[in-house]
Formats: sequence, C-alpha cells, structure tokens
Amino acid sequence: MSKDHLKIFDTTLRDGEQSPGASMTKEEKLRIARQLERMRVDVIEAGFPAASNGDFEAVKAVAEAIKDSTVAGLCRAFDKDIARALEAVKPAKSGRIHTFIATSPIHMEKKLRMSPEDVIVAAQNAVRFARNGIDDVEFSCEDAGRSEIDFLCRIIEAVIKEGASTINIPDTVGYNVPEQFAERILQLRTRIPNSDKVVWSVHCHNDLGLAVANSLAAVMAGARQVECTINGLGERAGNASLEEVVMAVRTRQDVFPCETRIDATQIVSLSKMVSGITGFPVQPNKAIVGANAFAHESGIHQDGVLKHRETYEIMRAEDVGWNANKLVLGKHSGRTAFKARLKELGIEVDSEQVLNSAFASFKELADKKHEIFDEDLHALMSDEVVTPEDEHYKLVSSMFHSETGEAPQARLTLNAGGVEKHAESSGSGPVDATFKAIESVAASGSELLLYSVNAITTGTDAQGEVTVRLSKDGRIVNGQGADTDIVVASAKAYINALNKLQSGQEKLNPQV
Ligand code: KIV
Ligand code: ZN
Repeated sequence: MSKDHLKIFDTTLRDGEQSPGASMTKEEKLRIARQLERMRVDVIEAGFPAASNGDFEAVKAVAEAIKDSTVAGLCRAFDKDIARALEAVKPAKSGRIHTFIATSPIHMEKKLRMSPEDVIVAAQNAVRFARNGIDDVEFSCEDAGRSEIDFLCRIIEAVIKEGASTINIPDTVGYNVPEQFAERILQLRTRIPNSDKVVWSVHCHNDLGLAVANSLAAVMAGARQVECTINGLGERAGNASLEEVVMAVRTRQDVFPCETRIDATQIVSLSKMVSGITGFPVQPNKAIVGANAFAHESGIHQDGVLKHRETYEIMRAEDVGWNANKLVLGKHSGRTAFKARLKELGIEVDSEQVLNSAFASFKELADKKHEIFDEDLHALMSDEVVTPEDEHYKLVSSMFHSETGEAPQARLTLNAGGVEKHAESSGSGPVDATFKAIESVAASGSELLLYSVNAITTGTDAQGEVTVRLSKDGRIVNGQGADTDIVVASAKAYINALNKLQSGQEKLNPQV
C-alpha cells in the first residue's frame, strides 16, 4: 500500500530566527535556504516580511532563488502585513502566504483585546485578502493548544470556506502532551465538515520537551504537515526539531502511515551550518546531530556494535550525513576547486572581489591547517560575506601575552570607521584582556550574555568557533568568529557582535 506524503515545513529562517540573537542576514538566509532546498523540504518559511525592510528583502531573495520548495512568508491577519508578504513571495515559483491570529481566550482577551466574533471576522478577511493575491494560503490559530475546541471548529470552518488550503494547529507555548494533542487534531478533523479539503499541519514548541512527541502524535492522528526547525531552534525552548521528526518517521515506517521526501544525508551539514550562522551550539547528546549521537563509547556497546551493528544502532550514521565531512581541499587546491566546493555546499559567490578575498583567506588557513573540511569553509565564508557597511569595526592586528604569575595582556589595532586605533588591556585571561581592550575603543556599554568556544573539526589544529552574545537597550545579538587561534577567534566574534549592534535594524516580532 502506498504511503501518504508527510510535508516538512521548515521554519528555521522565521521561528528559528526569533531565538534571541539568532537574527540572520539576507546572505545567511540564502545559504541556509539553498541547503534546505537541496535537502528537499517541502516548504521553507523564509521570514516575516513586515518585520523590517531587511526581512522583506531576505524573503524576496529566497523566493527568487528557490525552485524546488515552496517559499512561505508569515503575516499577521491584517491587509498591510499580507500585502507586504505577497510582494515578497511573488517571485517564487511556488509561493505561500502564512497568516495567523490568536484564538485562545487568554490571547484574544489580553493580547488582541478582541472579541471571539471579531477574531473570526479578521481571520476570514485575512484569508480572503490573501487568496486574492495567491492560491496557496495557510492559516494558523496561534495558541491553538490552549484554545477552546468549539471555537477552533468555528473559525477553521470559516477560513476553509474562504479558501485556506493548509490549517496549522500550533502549540505555541508548548503546553500539550501527546495523547491530548493527538485527540485535538482528531476532533478537529472529524467535527469540521469541510476538513477534508485541507492539509492539517502542526507547529509545536518545546517548553516541556514534548515538541517532537506532540508532532508525531499529531501525525498519527492525521496531520500531514509538520512545522519544524533545524536543531530545534526557535522561540524560548525552540520548535520541534526537523531531524528528529524526519528520522523518527523514517526509522519507524512500521508505525507511521506516511513518509517524507527528505534527503536525510544533508542533515548533519545543515545542522552545522545553522549552528555556525546563528551561534547556537548543538549539545553533544542531541539526537541525530549531536557529536555523541552515534559514538558508541562504552566498552560493552562497542563490542556489541562490532559483532553486529544493529545491537545498539537503530540508524546508520552515514544515512544522516555523518562521516560525509570528507577532506575536501588542501594547500595545493586551486581557485576553481575552491569555487566548485563552495557551490556544492550551497554557497554561491557572485562577486569576483569576494571570491578573491575568500580564496586568499582559504590559502592563509591552509598554511596553518593542512586539511580543510567543509565546516572550515562554512566558517570562512561566514566571515567573507560581511559587507563593508556592516563592518564598522575591523581587527587589524593583535598581540597577546600570557605567562605564569603575570596578568595576561592584549594589544590590538582596530579600524573603527576608517580610523586606526590602538588598544591595550590586561585581564583575568587573554580573552578577558582582549574584550576589555576592544571595549576601550568601542565603549559600547553592552552586556556580555554568553561566551562559548567550539572546535569546528577534530585535532589540535582545528579552528575554534567562538560565539559572543551581547545585549544593549533590549536588543540581543550573536557574533561569531573562527580562527585556529581561539583568542583571535574571540576578538573576531566580539567585533562581529559589536558590528551587528551598530548596524542592525529594529525588527518586529510577529507574535508580540
Ligand atoms: O508558535 C506559533 O504559534 C507560531 C505561529 C505564528 C505559527 O509561530
Ligand atoms: Zn512558533
């Protein structure tokens, strides 16, 4: 018997981007979108076009570039938002409008200050308005997980009549448990008279660690689209993690009546790309994409795996793209091989100037580190795609001194808006001294919320990838930097975060 198709709707570029500091540039979104397309996700939610001009441009650029996935733009249930989203997704070969309004008593009363009747009218108007501009319209009942079932039945029946073709049931605050959430989907599907005209979708948050379990329970109850993100990135505790949903459905085909079209071998590289771009590291014990997910460390397990791999392995590491980070380039690789590998990684470089500068950085890195892996190229390109207007501060040179019994010292030269400035400081360690030296020039007054270092690949010559999260006046940004010298990587990350604070626009959060 042929199986149903389960659509994978990826919202890394929208809900994922709503994580504090995970804001992405147009170029970064394009890189991720190209990889999502290559992984064969059905729908890429590229952003919330009404959030800012930058967001609008990013959604439009994704819509122009992507051919094999539907590109969705999120909008609240009013004409101005919807018109903006329609314009942004217009270039897409297959575009979708995703409009939503809150339907739980608490959200309607305290956030929207609207009566339930007015919410139904607003939802109908929104879907009608969107359908005038596009065929593919998805409607979401925000906080459906805490909404009254009778009210959900009324509003959903009404928007299906207006032409919505996908109905999404979000557990916005991650409050549900699997049996209850599945029951909710079943009730909606059976009680709403026109329910068979639409695809049922779910969008679960992970506040109780149940996002994937709730999504899968909903699939058993008839949902045929799951909204999820790479690495489970997303507001607060995040969204359902794409890799876990996909691999659960694939591994347990004996249980699920459906299958996705995902090319799972792309999962690990996408996970690394998203983690590198957003600065959200993946915990080592994370299912599927954590560094230990396939490492059979204990003696007993190793023995079992060597005798017969299925004793402890339910999936093969290579099926999700582990071990695929083959040695790609080295010191003697030429410009053509470099450019071709970038293309294979979904990194298109149109400008000769960027390519030349990236190639020079690659050669420099290859001198320090003989084996260049895909992860190194991703990190290198993250540095290269920064445009001059995003770069108020630049690291010109650095010197660090650390000696037993002495306070570590950092001496730096920064370019600040075209003017070279020297800075010097001591600190409790070389990183602390470096940050103090940079602050003595930038005087940003920002608060350091997070500092983390990860080795991008293995070995002591690996590049360290540093994330710095800064907060100022309610804005939070993540800066990244990579280098074989982790103090230099730290300086780059701090400067990157300062540049984002300096240049970033205010963005609107669609749900606030
Ligand atoms: O969590 C949520 O309810 C959302 C909607 C906008 C779909 O992200
Ligand atoms: Zn959400």
